[in-house]
Amino acid sequence: MSIRNQNGNAVEQTVQPKTEVSFRSPAKKDGAAVWELIKHTGVLDLNSSYSYLMWCDIFSETSIVATEDENVCGFISGYIHPKKANTLFIWQVAVHESGRGKGLASRMLKELLGRVACEKVQYLEATVSPSNVASTNLFKGLARSLETNCIITDYFTSTDFPQEGHEDELLFKIGPIKKDKG
Ligand SMILES: CC(C)(COP(=O)(O)OP(=O)(O)OC[C@H]1O[C@@H](n2cnc3c(N)ncnc32)[C@H](O)[C@@H]1OP(=O)(O)O)[C@@H](O)C(=O)NCCC(=O)NCCS
Repeated sequence: MSIRNQNGNAVEQTVQPKTEVSFRSPAKKDGAAVWELIKHTGVLDLNSSYSYLMWCDIFSETSIVATEDENVCGFISGYIHPKKANTLFIWQVAVHESGRGKGLASRMLKELLGRVACEKVQYLEATVSPSNVASTNLFKGLARSLETNCIITDYFTSTDFPQEGHEDELLFKIGPIKKDKG
């Protein structure tokens, strides 16, 4: 493609093809990049690097990474609730700041719900801090798109946490989910 420079002369510009975001189950090899992604958000509780290696290996069927040019740009850790076999509990959701606001987190959640490992899932639960508007809108938006309810109740309160200043964590319960929606 040719464009004009500031002297008005035509110059050739290389147009980089747009890369697609891909989704897949995480593997142990993604643990380090996921730890970096979570750290980079600056707002999520950063757990040990060990926990992300373990998570990417053991809970891969109910977790997801988004990659662009092989780089991890999104991650969701989820598990089937041990006391509720019909509930996918979402632990952490992160999208690299360069990819936010484009529907990536919503798409990752829907990809997860479509997995074989989630075929019995009728409810999705997650906890959200009241100040996290993006996260609140993500889960409310998912419920709207799935044409179902989003019930918000108290769960962990700030006094449950050992350190000062941790916000409350409200429980969002989305469902019942019909798989033909969204
Ligand atoms: C929360 C987060 C994962 C959202 O990712 P995303 O890919 O940008 O989200 P989406 O583009 O799928 O948007 C989902 C909904 O949230 C809304 N939203 C996204 N970012 C928003 C923001 N900063 N402020 C207000 N609303 C926002 C979108 O408009 C959309 O709403 P809609 O469904 O009504 O259209 C991302 O902002 C992030 O990684 N934040 C830091 C980590 C974090 O807070 N994680 C969540 C707690 S576990």
